[in-house]
Amino acid sequence: MKLIDLAPSVTDFAADAAVSLAQIPPKLHSKHLYDEVGSQLFDAITRVEEYYLTRVEQLIFTTRMAELARVVGPNVRVVEFGAGLGDKTHRLLSGLDDPREVVLIDISKAALLSGATAIETAFPHVTVTAICADYDEAITLEPHDDRSVMFFPGSTLGNFTNEEAVVFLRRQRALVGPGGGLILGADLIKDPEVLIAAYDDEAGVTRDFNVNLLQRLADAGGRVLPHHFRHEARWVAEQSRIEMHLVAEQATAISVLETSVSFKRGDSIQTESCHKYTPEALTELLAESGWSTAQIWMDDERRFAVVWATATL
Ligand code: AVI
Repeated sequence: MKLIDLAPSVTDFAADAAVSLAQIPPKLHSKHLYDEVGSQLFDAITRVEEYYLTRVEQLIFTTRMAELARVVGPNVRVVEFGAGLGDKTHRLLSGLDDPREVVLIDISKAALLSGATAIETAFPHVTVTAICADYDEAITLEPHDDRSVMFFPGSTLGNFTNEEAVVFLRRQRALVGPGGGLILGADLIKDPEVLIAAYDDEAGVTRDFNVNLLQRLADAGGRVLPHHFRHEARWVAEQSRIEMHLVAEQATAISVLETSVSFKRGDSIQTESCHKYTPEALTELLAESGWSTAQIWMDDERRFAVVWATATL
């Protein structure tokens, strides 16, 4: 395995929180949800009954793998941003026709090394490169004789604003070059009740995931009383997105570094946006970003989409 460590700078949580909490309305960036506890909670979310996304995406991959392998073609190089432990990559490589190379990119060096090692062991004929980097790091790929394919599953694209999504997808398009491909997993617009339940499950796993952010802030030296806030998932139809909020249940305040913010009962902090798409909106977003949608697979209930797109010449 080749490891390229671009030593991504870790954002100072307290400093970043002080700036974003001072905004009107106050925010906390969703990237801070994924500390060690948050990552474990997110992993638990993917197994929660109401959170259908992971399960349904997996179902589409399982049932459509032969078709996907045919359109992707043989001998490809797979590139995955935010690969984590690489278990989705593992399943993809198993289904593709003689993949040659895989490039795993993740901000967590520990997860990256563990995923890359597992893949190397399982696929001794695949060349593995692990790059420790953030999403917006300038990555370059070594020349490759066959097609390069970006793999971006899990509806992670939905956590970007549409502008950020276009920037990200254009960069991926530039990275794979002419003839490149993209396998994208994205969640679809559906009954708001189903969407809200997916982000506000009965067992309270998503609540714990969201409230953990305030505990993190307290641990980082902020003055905050996490129990003054409750978790809320809102469907914002105009933006086609679920927003996660922490809503003050009583008058309270948060202080971190030089920032002090007062909350009236009902005031909230927005912590994450999870955009949902129609197949047409996905096709349009991709077209704007230099990708031509060739195929969209959905489950029978049209809950989730897996897209195969090729680089527009
Ligand atoms: C990581 N991401 C795709 C998840 C989502 O569904 O947008 C994050 C998440 N937040 C709450 N539940 C899941």
